Amino acid sequence: MPRFVVTPWEVKGKVDYDKLIQRFGTQPIDGKLLKRIEKHAKQLHVFLRRGIFFSHRDLNWILDMYENGKKFYLYTGRGPSGHTHLGHLIPWVFTKHLQDVFGAELYFQLTDDEKFLFKRELALQDAIGFTYDNALDVIACGFDPKKTFIFSDLEYAKTLYKMAIQIAKHITFSTARAVFGFTSQSNIGIIFFPAIQAAPCFFPSMLKGENIPCLIPAAIDQDPYWRPSRDVAPKLGFFKPAQIHCKFIPGLGKGGKMSASQPETCIFTTDLPELAAKKIMNAFTGGMGTVREQREKGGNPNICSVYQYFYFLFEDDDEKLRKIYDECKGGERICGDCKEALAKRVKKFLTKHQEKRERAKNIIQKFMLRD
Ligand code: TYM
Repeated sequence: MPRFVVTPWEVKGKVDYDKLIQRFGTQPIDGKLLKRIEKHAKQLHVFLRRGIFFSHRDLNWILDMYENGKKFYLYTGRGPSGHTHLGHLIPWVFTKHLQDVFGAELYFQLTDDEKFLFKRELALQDAIGFTYDNALDVIACGFDPKKTFIFSDLEYAKTLYKMAIQIAKHITFSTARAVFGFTSQSNIGIIFFPAIQAAPCFFPSMLKGENIPCLIPAAIDQDPYWRPSRDVAPKLGFFKPAQIHCKFIPGLGKGGKMSASQPETCIFTTDLPELAAKKIMNAFTGGMGTVREQREKGGNPNICSVYQYFYFLFEDDDEKLRKIYDECKGGERICGDCKEALAKRVKKFLTKHQEKRERAKNIIQKFMLRD
């Protein structure tokens, strides 16, 4: 039995990211590649400095093409089965950074079909409702409306389907079963679905009538989708899509990624700031049983979910982050105070983000792609 599982539908156990690179056959982002990216970005993004984006396929090739004057586009997405949580924002914040640095267009897929097919209890109408709700979060990240195209699979089916069947023709059931673990109990919709998620790897090329390189920023759970997409690409005369992968922000409990299936340890972008603060005050930490013991022995930031939130999203300054770490280990920092400091930042972030979501309602139509 593997000690951890990472699939597009399940992340279980303590993920060993070095092992995952080997298991999935991707490449680590090394110092040389970081230097290359830094040349374009001027300053390395905090997600790269901290190894949160840690793995890739063909990123050097994407940069070769870019440096030779061939622009790439970005492709990422969301399966709208509920409200957006902070984990989903990680690839999107980074995608926005890449859009700014490289002036790239972004195609953003909302897989309402996937979630309807995969989640037994989800009604079609609810998946459609969450499509619009989640699109507000995407827009709130600040993407350029002139360069960003958001689409729902159900609405954009005419264009997507044409591309998807060309892809599907080259993927056998036995490949799909090996990559995604389908069984004879899987419904036939979900078996076809990988061709729909593969389609945006190529359809901008199809729409524009020229072969355009594609870079996909996402957490590593989505990687299985890109393997058949990459195999099919040359058969259809397209470039293989490149990827840049991130790690998972954990939930507020003990271990495990942030997941909507555990709402008490998950911060949704729509949570009232006070509710989010309450969740943080109940978070699992690396603290000792009593304040006295903590002062004497120090805490353990390495296992602390609160520290992870500073690390991933809520303390950009490396010096200040180190101070949090050292003070915790040295027993100067007490969990109650640390949780309050995080809660304050998260409340401020949510208040701002929710204002941006409100404003997004007025401009959503500028972003939606229709056929
Ligand atoms: P979904 O809705 O499960 O997740 C949306 C994006 O969030 C990433 N993610 C996380 N990142 C960091 N920490 C976490 N705890 C965390 N949980 C989820 C996912 O990797 C994803 O990037 N099938 C896809 C929708 C999709 C898509 C795409 C995603 C369609 N096309 C292209 C990425 C790229 C889905 O259900 O994602």
